[in-house]
Amino acid sequence: MVSECLFLRLSVSIDADEVWSFGGAPMLKKIKFEQLIPGMYVGRMEGSWLKNPFWRPRFLIRSSEEVQALRTAGLKGIWIDTARGLDVAEPAHADGPREAVQPSTTVAAADPGRRESSSLPMPFERELEEASKVCLHAKDVVADIFSNARITETVDMRTATQIVSDMSLTLTRHPSALLSVARMRSVDDYTYVHSVAVACLMMAFARGVGFDEEQIGRCGMAGLLHDLGKARISLEILNKPAELSEAEWIYMREHPAMGYEMLHSQDATDAGVLDACLRHHEKFDGSGYPDRMKGEDIPMLARMVSICDVYDAVTSDRIYKKGWDPADALHRMAGWTGHFDPVLFKAFVRTIGVYPIGSLVRLASQRLAIVIKRPQLASASAVNPCVRVVYSIRTRSYAHGITLDLAQNDCDDHIVAREDRAAWAHLDMDAFIS
Ligand SMILES: [Fe+2]
Ligand SMILES: [Fe+2]
Repeated sequence: MVSECLFLRLSVSIDADEVWSFGGAPMLKKIKFEQLIPGMYVGRMEGSWLKNPFWRPRFLIRSSEEVQALRTAGLKGIWIDTARGLDVAEPAHADGPREAVQPSTTVAAADPGRRESSSLPMPFERELEEASKVCLHAKDVVADIFSNARITETVDMRTATQIVSDMSLTLTRHPSALLSVARMRSVDDYTYVHSVAVACLMMAFARGVGFDEEQIGRCGMAGLLHDLGKARISLEILNKPAELSEAEWIYMREHPAMGYEMLHSQDATDAGVLDACLRHHEKFDGSGYPDRMKGEDIPMLARMVSICDVYDAVTSDRIYKKGWDPADALHRMAGWTGHFDPVLFKAFVRTIGVYPIGSLVRLASQRLAIVIKRPQLASASAVNPCVRVVYSIRTRSYAHGITLDLAQNDCDDHIVAREDRAAWAHLDMDAFIS
């Protein structure tokens, strides 16, 4: 507490107006320029901000281009507000703000795939919080893209590309990001959260099957825009708090063609993204829509989106139905013969694990746990993920704050079954992990 007061006093002495005009409690930290990454919130710049390309003293860094612009803007120093954006991995020094040196952040910015092996693990709560900030921002951006498309029939592809790039980085830095997406749903914004979720799933899928960065970005974009045609569907139907009538379904089934039409009119749209938008409701056995395409005639990106799309839809809570548990969803989807490309579906399961993030499982110790990320060790089996223990069945009591990496040699617990969420609906799962 003493150090926090000293910290705030130091900040006030630097620029009281900037510090207190946020309306909340700022947490300013001076960092090195090479530590900057998208998702950080610039709280103060040393040197005139009027002379840099941003023309504002405080803002959220939204892309690697903005990071680069800050690094080359000729500023003397940079302070981030960790209450409003991402932090560097190292905690603030007890004596007050100082230049934190954490090489891993630089590595993450340069090569996200290498971060896990070269940096200190971040506490789960903080990882979740930081991932949530980026996911919430992504959802707002998607809402803007849709409302703009509703009016202008066009999509700001630059903004869409930036948000896909930011989400890709977040997924690499924060493996629990998918859990964050699942937790931010609300009634009115299902379509936007769904778009963010499918984009994240597509990027995780693409990374899992060994795609390069360019292909991963394309997959993210396909996920983000696959339902763009819903921008033309009335909000009344889109947010209807009940199952749609047959007539409404007929109208709704127009959305792939409507989305394709909007995207096709823009020169910059990738052919794979167009395919995914038009074909994501085709089924492998030819029973889908709009054209009853069959097998490998359906473009691959569309076959991938089809899997991620359904997986997110069935695991989502809606007013009229409870979402399935992720592990249960995979189990059920595996039984839908003819719906998905079987080879791709197996690859999807391999990628997200038999127990995907968010699954509720029972441990041998008779405790309930939620899967929060893949095992830390790359060589570890997907049946031994990291879990958050939430409830003891024996003692009928909550267990807050216990995280287990089931793949570690010294961990003497393991998963014995996936659990039906409905059977434990009286427990507040979100409260366990927040
Ligand atoms: Fe769709
Ligand atoms: Fe969808």
